[in-house]
Amino acid sequence: MSESIQHRIEELSKKIEEHNYNYYVLSNPTISDYDFDMMLEELIRLEKEHPEYQLPDSPSLRVGGQITKEFKTVKHKYPMLSLGNTYSEEELNDFDDRVKKALTEPYEYVCELKYDGVAIGLTYKHGRLVQAVTRGDGEQGDDVTTNVKTIKSIPLKLRGNNYPNEFEIRGEIFMPRSSFDEINKEREEIGDAPLANPRNAASGTLKMQDSAQVAKRNLDCYLYFVLGETLPHQSHYENLLAAKSWGFKVPESVIKTNSIQGVFQFINKWDVERADLEFDIDGVVLKVNSYEQQKALGFTAKSPRWAIAYKFKAQRVATILESISYQVGRTGAITPVANLKPVLLAGTTVKRASLHNADIIEKLDVRVGDTVFVEKGGEIIPKIVGVDESKRPVGGGSDLFASALEPTKYITHCPECNAELIRNEGEANHYCPNELACPPQVKGKMEHFVSRKAMDIDSLGGETIAQLYDAGLIKNIADLYELKKEDLLQLERMAEKSVNNLLAGIEASKAITFERVLYAIGIRHIGETTAKKLAYYFKNIDALEKATVEQLLEVGDIGEKIAQTIVEYFKDQRNIEIIERLKKHGLQFQLSEEQLTNTSDKLKDLSFVVSGVFSKFSRDDLKKAIEQNGGKNVGSISGKTSYVIAGENMGPEKLKKAEKLGVPIISEDDFIKMIN
Ligand code: IVH
Repeated sequence: MSESIQHRIEELSKKIEEHNYNYYVLSNPTISDYDFDMMLEELIRLEKEHPEYQLPDSPSLRVGGQITKEFKTVKHKYPMLSLGNTYSEEELNDFDDRVKKALTEPYEYVCELKYDGVAIGLTYKHGRLVQAVTRGDGEQGDDVTTNVKTIKSIPLKLRGNNYPNEFEIRGEIFMPRSSFDEINKEREEIGDAPLANPRNAASGTLKMQDSAQVAKRNLDCYLYFVLGETLPHQSHYENLLAAKSWGFKVPESVIKTNSIQGVFQFINKWDVERADLEFDIDGVVLKVNSYEQQKALGFTAKSPRWAIAYKFKAQRVATILESISYQVGRTGAITPVANLKPVLLAGTTVKRASLHNADIIEKLDVRVGDTVFVEKGGEIIPKIVGVDESKRPVGGGSDLFASALEPTKYITHCPECNAELIRNEGEANHYCPNELACPPQVKGKMEHFVSRKAMDIDSLGGETIAQLYDAGLIKNIADLYELKKEDLLQLERMAEKSVNNLLAGIEASKAITFERVLYAIGIRHIGETTAKKLAYYFKNIDALEKATVEQLLEVGDIGEKIAQTIVEYFKDQRNIEIIERLKKHGLQFQLSEEQLTNTSDKLKDLSFVVSGVFSKFSRDDLKKAIEQNGGKNVGSISGKTSYVIAGENMGPEKLKKAEKLGVPIISEDDFIKMIN
């Protein structure tokens, strides 16, 4: 029996890794997501029941779960150097001349993209990933192995058998643009500041303490450099191809050429095509292919003489900064925007550019009237990168040499509602705190309220909200439920039919369940999942309203920051008033009968281990029932376990352990009696 379980665990581990490879390295999946999930679920369950059979490189490790409190500092076996940069054809020709001069034999260049992420060094011993270290200062970096193991394109175990016993491979961990956009959309939805760019997002993710969070963020990794004493080839390109055959993700874009013209062709191709890539690059890298020739060329103090980076030029123009305006977002975040004298840049006319935040304005010392440099890099929105101070007009005051332009004073009050702005410690953005009366914030809150995952009132879009708000018909979400047909009919573009439609949509929303209402009212940082947890834990808004920070911390996955925000929210009498009005209109502020009959606190303080196969529940439903009734699921039996629920084919080891520790073993029917 246990032998067959061990065999099944090994079989599943192998199959799942094969599917990971097909999906994440070859981009060629061969099974459905559902079938894959089922296999992974089975593996996780078997490993939980039989931890002794879990393989050291089990694909279940990719789900994460381990916490790293502090990342260990590790010295690199080979220092992690950086590359020299060039910005023009001329500089590249100079590089090629130097190479030509130093080498007597013909040579080849390998051309690669310069991936814009975080450098990583991966050490493999006997085909297994043993360590992953960040660049750090080049001499020593942070051990981020646990987090790196969640990146599905990085092999935990190598393919084939012709890899060296020990070697290091380096590459760049990056966040695909689609994942980056998704994360920012979610962050915006719950009122968190967006992440600045995919590179920062990747480096921040790699340093997260909870590897389960890292696993969710879809990092990826391209490999570009193999190091070791016993590599199969004496050249870079051929070793990269070998690494590809061991299961590493080596990009298709890599080419070999024997002339600098070939390099220029590669550069010109990617300068155009980079816009279509799924990830950011900031240039290309060229490397002399032969190791012998690399050795002959050697190193400077900081970088190899046999490789160089060519950075793409961001397109840049100069124009006049005519004024600065400040936008207020849905969450109250202020964004300064530069209004420019229109200028042509990379094929489009640019009139506005982002100025990011107060620090950047101060650092650049931009002043209205200045001639500024505007750049368009990989980003969609152009940005101001500098001031042409030689063009700044002088004079105008008593000091003849003083500038005629006033230094920019960042606004102190909200341009929309005049509330005094705040800036939280450690944050770059200013905020308008007047959540309940600042027009863009109020309108934004309402848009969130009616959105699909919240109250789902699709007869009410952003434009109509603005129209109703501007007409003074709605000032907060509760006003929506007091709209009158005759008032609506007075408005432009509001015929009988659309008014009826609108009112019917609002009426229907009264049936939306409590957890969604809780999400809809828009407490900062409360996303869909958190709202659900809170709803099931507290069951109604009154209990939640009274909860202290300590009580909130007892709910799984709620941290100090969220707990504090919730308490603050309910301290504000204006929020309470809105909730009271919504209650009066019949919105759901408690779990429904049906939700309640399936929930209780009958199992409060009890912990359960579920083992075997059941006839009335699926394992997942059984676990859900335990949670909904206030109990806790635990993975393995200990003296503290309250009950083991045994199904058919319960593992004999578990049985033995439960008996030895005196943990009561109950059946599925016993459990049903407990909760009914
Ligand atoms: S090779 C000794 N190849 O650029 C050569 N680096 O400034 C070591 N990078 O730290 C680097 N794409 O993070 C190499 N195809 C590529 C690269 C690449 C991105 C990054 C890497 C490195 C930095 C060098």
